[in-house]
Amino acid sequence: MPATTTLLAPSILSADFTDLRASIALAEKAGADWMHCDVMDGVFVPNITFGPFIVQAVAACTSMTIDTHLMIADPDRFIADFIKAGSHQITVHQEACPHLHRTVQYIKSLGAKAGVSINPATPVSVLESILPDLDLVLLMSVNPGFGGQKFIPSSVEKIARLHAMRNGLNPGMVIAVDGGITDENAGDVVAAGADALIAGTAFFKATDPVATASKLKGYSRHS
Ligand code: DX5
Ligand code: ZN
Repeated sequence: MPATTTLLAPSILSADFTDLRASIALAEKAGADWMHCDVMDGVFVPNITFGPFIVQAVAACTSMTIDTHLMIADPDRFIADFIKAGSHQITVHQEACPHLHRTVQYIKSLGAKAGVSINPATPVSVLESILPDLDLVLLMSVNPGFGGQKFIPSSVEKIARLHAMRNGLNPGMVIAVDGGITDENAGDVVAAGADALIAGTAFFKATDPVATASKLKGYSRHS
């Protein structure tokens, strides 16, 4: 089982890109566990962000775990580049991988932890066969593509279902939830079974990011 304090992963997407080093230092000071890097290609999602070059710059500024979320079509083409850039964890979308088992094994063969993400309309049941092979599942609580969207309430039920599956199939696997996390919904999200909260807007746009981080990390995790 993972540790009992909730893990916090600020999403770099909402950071100040004119001063990335300061944004990362703020996340570190706030006790964040992972730096979440949202990679978008304009094909799998209707937005474009950045590639391995920026991930490398982020990794050079911190000793936090670099958690790279690939919202890209055919991610196998770029997995090695993102690991070389310093990613410790690579998460791909189930919806973007026709040979998901092969992709997961490929990530692991390159020495990174392997995660799979599912969109709000994808049921957790699609993960059943791959679950024993995963280090983490990233459950999307918004449709991927943009920061600052509203949390989809039905995600809470999906977290609970995934948590029950995890306990039977792979108790050491981490459940992360991504999109629209705020102090208002974080309690329910963690109570349903989340181990890690991804927070872009809620952290970087907070008037007091350090206080927000300690609140988000303060919810007690399920066993
Ligand atoms: C959405 C991204 C998320 C998102 C988080 O496509 O995967 O990581 O940017 O940002 P907030 O917390 O603002 O929803
Ligand atoms: Zn993300």
